[in-house]
Amino acid sequence: MHEPDFDVAGQTAIVTGASQGIGKAIAETLAAGGANVAICSRSMDRIGPVAEGINDAAVDGEALAVECNVREREQVQNLVDETVETFGDVDVLVNNAGGEFVANFEDISANGWETIVDLNLNSTVHCTQLAGEVMREGDGGVIINLSSVNGQHAAPGESHYGASKAAIIRLTETLAVEWADDGIRVNCIAPGLIQTPGVAETLGIDSEAMPPREKTDRRIGHSEEIADIVQFLVSPAASFMNGETVTAKGVPRAGNSMSQDLGLE
Ligand SMILES: NC(=O)c1ccc[n+]([C@@H]2O[C@H](COP(=O)([O-])OP(=O)(O)OC[C@H]3O[C@@H](n4cnc5c(N)ncnc54)[C@H](OP(=O)(O)O)[C@@H]3O)[C@@H](O)[C@H]2O)c1
Repeated sequence: MHEPDFDVAGQTAIVTGASQGIGKAIAETLAAGGANVAICSRSMDRIGPVAEGINDAAVDGEALAVECNVREREQVQNLVDETVETFGDVDVLVNNAGGEFVANFEDISANGWETIVDLNLNSTVHCTQLAGEVMREGDGGVIINLSSVNGQHAAPGESHYGASKAAIIRLTETLAVEWADDGIRVNCIAPGLIQTPGVAETLGIDSEAMPPREKTDRRIGHSEEIADIVQFLVSPAASFMNGETVTAKGVPRAGNSMSQDLGLE
């Protein structure tokens, strides 16, 4: 009988933007599965406790905290170097760090536009080129990019964010082709609305009122529901998936209708 292999034990994963929200859930999930995780945010005061929490937990994976602003290429090089020094390799890169503010296109300053594109798209380029270099010189690996349903469909107030997240989807598809011979799979996840501190701040959502995962429609998602998809995409079970964007929005309808359902737009 065939048994699917969701094992990630022994892998070394870089997860960017892991001090809270989806990135933290991804780091904790991979570590619980036995992967070593190098995790970063802009502040050691914020990323350090997440690594301590993993290292104090009864899990097989170890965590390394690195202060790194992913918009700064030299800091990303340091993140990759520290990962290799500590764990010996880079097998997995999760480009999770990202963010936005909501504003109509005509109100977005040049600086505001550049900040969002830099944070979401250019940082993904820095991390992917520098961690990808290690993977290509070694045994290959897996890269997972965080896009958004707003990169797939239009949403008002999200032109800068949507453009940067749409570009990530096409970058994923292109690299999946270019780096296939290097043994690197590149996939993407497009979440719908997920309850995180970032979303709570942007949209003012009460985190105490989270419906359980069993509810199948018209609810906000849990960060762990994205982390579980990452675990699958990293694992051998996803060996035939390359260049794909996995949408996870809980509601099988077009567009970003979930936030409308929730009365947030
Ligand atoms: N939540 C959603 O509904 C949703 C939906 C679709 C897609 N996504 C995407 O999923 C990813 C995570 O979202 P989230 O809601 O979990 O975000 P969040 O709660 O705002 O957390 C963002 C994380 O990124 C880190 N970060 C921000 N700027 C950084 C930088 N320049 N360098 C390094 N780290 C940085 C933050 O850490 P520090 O502040 O400590 O630096 C934090 O750990 C993002 O790419 C987001 O666009 C989220």
